[in-house]
Amino acid sequence: MSQQHSALASAPTPAQAKRGDWWRDAVIYQVYPRSFADSNGDGMGDLEGIRSRLPYLRDLGVDAVWLSPFYASPQADAGYDVADYRAVDPMFGNLLDADALIRDAHELSLRIIVDLVPNHSSDQHEWFKRALREGPGSPLRDRYHFRPGKGEHGELPPNNWESIFGGPAWTRVTEPDGTPGEWYLHLFAPEQPDFNWEHPAVGDEFRSILRFWLDMGVDGFRIDVAHGMVKAEGLPDIGGDGDQLKLLGNDVMPFFDQDGVHDIYRQWRLILDEYAGERIFVAEAWTPTVARTANYVRPDELHQAFNFQYLGTHWDAEELRKVVDLTLEAMRPVGAPATWVLSNHDVTRHATRFANPAGLGTQIRTAGDRALGLRRARAATLLMLALPGSAYIYQGEELGLPDVVDLPDEVRQDPAYFRGAGQDGFRDGCRVPIPWTREGSSYGFGTGGSWLPQPAEWADLSVEAQTGVAGSTLELYRWALAVRRAEPDLGAGDSVAWLRAPEGVLAFRRGEFVCVANTTGESVTTPAYGRVLLASGEVAEVDGDAKIPADTTVWWTTA
Ligand code: GLC
Repeated sequence: MSQQHSALASAPTPAQAKRGDWWRDAVIYQVYPRSFADSNGDGMGDLEGIRSRLPYLRDLGVDAVWLSPFYASPQADAGYDVADYRAVDPMFGNLLDADALIRDAHELSLRIIVDLVPNHSSDQHEWFKRALREGPGSPLRDRYHFRPGKGEHGELPPNNWESIFGGPAWTRVTEPDGTPGEWYLHLFAPEQPDFNWEHPAVGDEFRSILRFWLDMGVDGFRIDVAHGMVKAEGLPDIGGDGDQLKLLGNDVMPFFDQDGVHDIYRQWRLILDEYAGERIFVAEAWTPTVARTANYVRPDELHQAFNFQYLGTHWDAEELRKVVDLTLEAMRPVGAPATWVLSNHDVTRHATRFANPAGLGTQIRTAGDRALGLRRARAATLLMLALPGSAYIYQGEELGLPDVVDLPDEVRQDPAYFRGAGQDGFRDGCRVPIPWTREGSSYGFGTGGSWLPQPAEWADLSVEAQTGVAGSTLELYRWALAVRRAEPDLGAGDSVAWLRAPEGVLAFRRGEFVCVANTTGESVTTPAYGRVLLASGEVAEVDGDAKIPADTTVWWTTA
């Protein structure tokens, strides 16, 4: 067996030396509170529901739980529009429920990471309401981006920026005297006005919010739109010739990934480090390259950043290998762990992405070939969990859930759908409440239906239907996480040693562990590397060779 070490295989690194840090190789499970478990039968998930299901998460074998926002909110963007950062929305419970949830999680050795939304508030936030009420010249307007319009009567937006959800990024207000007045900036929905991070009160407020939740005992924060917050000086038009413009993808974006945002994180890190217990920050930073993402996880800034380049990669050995190499290379100099993620509440679930032809992006509304999608999804998960670093799992992927692509329009809630950003509400399809039981109202999600309808086929994908069933996707995840825990080096380190493999096959060694992923539609023959620990499909071994079926990943140990 010939072994091809990549340039990446290297001596122990600072990352390995600091192996005590739980988050460096943690598997973190994302709970979307509306859709996880409903304790009071109102069709909407809640904190008490989550608390009741913590033993499930412990048994699944994850290290931490990240909760999408549950704060007081009018829900214009499913809670990413926060009206009060220190209160729980009554829809989800109250602060006592949050306290009980954090305590119970800790009893079960699970950590809790909460979402922090600092780029914008809700338009129902006290500051914004006052800013509107008090009219032009109100000091509260300086905490957001209010500007007079262009044109003879101020009837045109102050610049040409567009909302991520479609339409202009500016909305004109009606002043207290009833006249059309200033405009305010919202990179997302009009109900989500952007804070002005140049104003000292904004920074003070968020440092205080951090302390509030740290005092409540949370183990960390996922920072929403972490690449936002700071805007280029003067809010210049996109496509202008200003030197201060930064690149995002191929577009010039003066509102994302500005260098000034790093000063905020350096201040936040000092606060976090005052608290015991290795608490962490993870950035939702959409940047053009993994190298730019690495800037967010320099030693005095955040701990982790989502690897969206990995999430967007096709089920293709060459492309996967390239992004794994680029990621590890980018993270090594800053000493941060790589992260791996396949699904979240903003993209089409990977079981559906991989069911469709490559190249359609992460927002897909066709079911495609479901069996193929599931086979690849299972294989992709075993590959992800074999890589060094930390991995994120989105609720329901352990059941092999696809996106629900045929939701009736009248149940949709995603603001992107209503603002028609060419996205057509794709995000509701990955937010459908998860099935716990074969029968019952909403398949055990709650006793009073569910806020988005679940397909009947989900009975057979429920936790109940898959528990204890050899080969089920749920049991595959449980085994994978158990093996990951038992193999002390699986998530550690910052390199992989690539092995020679047939075209379309990805193979690497990590000490005594070998992972082989066949991304092709045909079965392939590779050496049998040792004892099979786990496989996402049936592997046949004959005379020292292994026959790996199409779209299948295998874990071996040579020990
Ligand atoms: C992030 C969230 C997304 C939300 C947006 C605005 O991208 O993940 O759900 O709509 O920020 O807060």
